[in-house]
Amino acid sequence: MSDPVVLAIESSCDETAAAVQHGRSRTLASVISSQIEIHRRFGGVVPEVASRNHLLALRQVVDAALSQSAMTMSDLDAVAATRGPGLASSLLVGMSCAKGLAIGLGLPFYGVNHLEGHLLSPFLGHPDGVQPCVALLVSGGHTSLVELVGPRQFKILGQTRDDAAGEAFDKVAKMLNLPYPGGPEIEKLAGGGDPYRFQFPRAFFDDDNWEFSFSGLKTAVRYLLPKIKHDDIADVCASFQQAVFDVLIRKTIRAANKLGYQLVSASGGVSINKRFREALQSAAGDANCDLILADPALCTDNAAMIANVAVERLLAGEPSDIDHDVNPNLSLAAG
Ligand code: KG4
Ligand code: ZN
Repeated sequence: MSDPVVLAIESSCDETAAAVQHGRSRTLASVISSQIEIHRRFGGVVPEVASRNHLLALRQVVDAALSQSAMTMSDLDAVAATRGPGLASSLLVGMSCAKGLAIGLGLPFYGVNHLEGHLLSPFLGHPDGVQPCVALLVSGGHTSLVELVGPRQFKILGQTRDDAAGEAFDKVAKMLNLPYPGGPEIEKLAGGGDPYRFQFPRAFFDDDNWEFSFSGLKTAVRYLLPKIKHDDIADVCASFQQAVFDVLIRKTIRAANKLGYQLVSASGGVSINKRFREALQSAAGDANCDLILADPALCTDNAAMIANVAVERLLAGEPSDIDHDVNPNLSLAAG
């Protein structure tokens, strides 16, 4: 099958998403219905509320993806859904729908690892697919440095020991009484602040390992807050953000140098941040590395990245996963 057409559903957290992908190159539709406004008043995602809202939105989102792509069910070659990690009750909604469609249409079903979706997302739309690189995955639940050789061929170099980078943004935002999710709010305020006003800790900065830790940084912000004035908040946001990015970027570039890669990539919700993208671009340039970033629309959760993994698996001739169940704790290493 040269250019398969795949319908994918993503419902691991608080976005209900569906996409139609045609081969490696063409995302025909990527529809996202966000529940952020619903969860904002609780200060974070409430699992039971999330799954009920997935159920309400899914039919419309799938119909919209099919009609935007100008495809019908009979044009599809496979159906895919996120299998994990994520909220069990949310994953079940998307995966049951996708399995039902696959069975009804007599098509293979692929249960995709959400983290693999993020990891390969910088290469979505590239006709040659995944290129070997050192890949940084920075989302709300995960911070991992990965040696990426190809789809299904990767080695985790290191991960965070405690908070994920996006989680640190969300927790610091909460301390500052900013709305959920914290990343975009901190980025906005940081734009008017001095990134070097407060010297926050940068864990494992000079260590020759690929692990991360952001809980000390979060605690440092907590201890600082009672001592500052309201006018200082932009400087706190800018300095916090800078500390996170300095560590992420230094480790990524250092891993590329050490392992002999000339290409680095970054994906996941945090990689949408403009200052992060510019700083990584400039560090990669200084190290004579090329950089490939996910399109901003593909950094946060979406179904195109899930369809992309399913396309790779179809092209590799992998069998259907119809017997697989959701796995809320699925790790990247599990594939
Ligand atoms: O990849 P994603 O949508 O979901 C997970 O799989 O976790 O990432 C969401 C995370 C949240 O923690 C959010 O605060 C963070 O990405 N994020 C940002 C920005 N936009 C979203 N972090 C920093 N700057 C941003 N502009
Ligand atoms: Zn995600």
